[in-house]
Amino acid sequence: MSDPNVTLTGEKVILRPFATGDVGDAYLGWMNDRAANPYLLGARTPVARDDLVRYVEASAADERSFLFAVCDRESGVHIGNARLYDVSVADRHGIYGWLIGDVAFRGRGAGTDALVQLLRFGFHHLDLHRIWGMVAVANAGATRCSEKAGMVREGILREVIRRGDGFLDAALFAMLRPEFDRRHGGPDQW
Ligand SMILES: CC(C)(COP(=O)(O)OP(=O)(O)OC[C@H]1O[C@@H](n2cnc3c(N)ncnc32)[C@H](O)[C@@H]1OP(=O)(O)O)[C@@H](O)C(=O)NCCC(=O)NCCS
Repeated sequence: MSDPNVTLTGEKVILRPFATGDVGDAYLGWMNDRAANPYLLGARTPVARDDLVRYVEASAADERSFLFAVCDRESGVHIGNARLYDVSVADRHGIYGWLIGDVAFRGRGAGTDALVQLLRFGFHHLDLHRIWGMVAVANAGATRCSEKAGMVREGILREVIRRGDGFLDAALFAMLRPEFDRRHGGPDQW
């Protein structure tokens, strides 16, 4: 049930269901590039290939998790990942997370487009009412993407992210289905 079984086409990127074959050197390189990804939540470096295989298999087995490969629309190259997780069908909400791992593709709108497509999947395909998540306050790129996608900053979670010997504050971002449809269009407009 966790296979998203759908491909979403945006202006810059395509989100397609993640395949085991997507666990390659590129993905491994992104996860171990701490300098390019200082605020990735939940990830601890160094990451081994087996860790990624386990992560992908666990996500596939988890009916509350939907993992996509983010691909450059023009070339088809796999440039990142996007995931909705802890999806509650009963309460109709879920948590977003994503990365553009290939830094050559950053700064061109791929991150915002991938996020909008992930939100579209959650609202229009899973019929969720609310999608939310936290972004380190220091993570300027993810903050700007979330704002550009139209997510609302609901508050600050103090010292919720452990980094080294310390803790970082995170902003709580969320979007509701009517807000998405007003900004990006309802299902009939895609
Ligand atoms: C966050 C991330 C997805 C952004 O991807 P991207 O493809 O560069 O995003 P976009 O090109 O759509 O940029 C969107 C906006 O953010 C801004 N931005 C992007 N990276 C930025 C940075 N490091 N610092 C400041 N602003 C940044 C862009 O300038 C743009 O704003 P503008 O249109 O007003 O100029 C990418 O940097 C990434 O994957 N980071 C590591 C993983 C991560 O932190 N994921 C989120 C975990 S919560």
